[in-house]
This record gives sequence, structure tokens and C-alpha cells, in this order.
Amino acid sequence: MHKYEKIWLTFGTSALVIFLVILGISAVHQGHSPAASGIETINPEHVRDDARFKEPGLYESDTDEYDYELYFVASAFQYEPREVEIPKGSRVRIHVTTPDVIHGFEIAQTNVNMMVEPGLISKYTANFNKEGEFLIICNEYCGVGHTDMTSLIKVTG
Ligand code: CUA
Repeated sequence: MHKYEKIWLTFGTSALVIFLVILGISAVHQGHSPAASGIETINPEHVRDDARFKEPGLYESDTDEYDYELYFVASAFQYEPREVEIPKGSRVRIHVTTPDVIHGFEIAQTNVNMMVEPGLISKYTANFNKEGEFLIICNEYCGVGHTDMTSLIKVTG
């Protein structure tokens, strides 16, 4: 084998290995992302400066797609709002973010279950067709107050 052939072969193999490693890393990283139906970035240090998260809660939607937009700030160790009332039959776009660490956002007895990471706004669309009280729970360990971290959705008829 010629000297140059060897060099090119080595170069080519290294490039392939590097490419595969990068591919592997990004695959792992994607697997770790919140399982939400939409993701937007936000500066975690300025969550409260964002008009949507200044007074989180239920707001009528400007779009035809949803009846309401529901904003939540998850932080150690609470959700804001602590309680929210939603009219039965509403189609709601949920937006959740956090200024501190990774939290979970699961609405018990529903399909809503997402990870909330600092720097990201996790989103989920849900139809609230069943009357009742639904507990929001944190399913990512976030510290000593983890198990006390809850909020309540009241779906009213
Ligand atoms: Cu927040 Cu666990």
C-alpha cells in the first residue's frame, strides 16, 4: 500500500468514527428531550420577564385552534397556579417551563405527561371532556420537596 493511500484510509476511517460518535450523541440527546408535542426555548433566568409566565394561569386563546392557553411555572417545589378551573369541553394548549431544575408535569388520569427542563417550554394539547378534579404531579425527582409538588385542575360543567 502506498503511503498516501494509508494516510487517506486513516483519515477516512477517523472521519467515519467521529461522524458515528456525533450521531450517537445527538440520538441520545434527542431521546432525553421532553416528550411534548412542541418545544420552544426560553431563558430560564428570565422566565418571569416573559409576559406569558408573569401571571401563569388560564387565558382565552387568540387562535381558532384552542379555547384556552394554560401557562404553568414549575419550580422547586410548587406549580403556579396552585389550582385552575377549566370549563368542561375545552381544548387547551398547555405551556410549562421552569426557572430552576428538571421537573415533571403529569396530569393524573390523562395522557398529559411531560418533562419540564430549564431553558425550554414544554407544550401539550389536551381536551378536558370529563368533569372532576385532576391532580398535577411532578414525576421527575427534583429535591427534598419533590413529593409535595402538586397542583389541581378542576374541570367544571
Ligand atoms: Cu418537581 Cu419533582
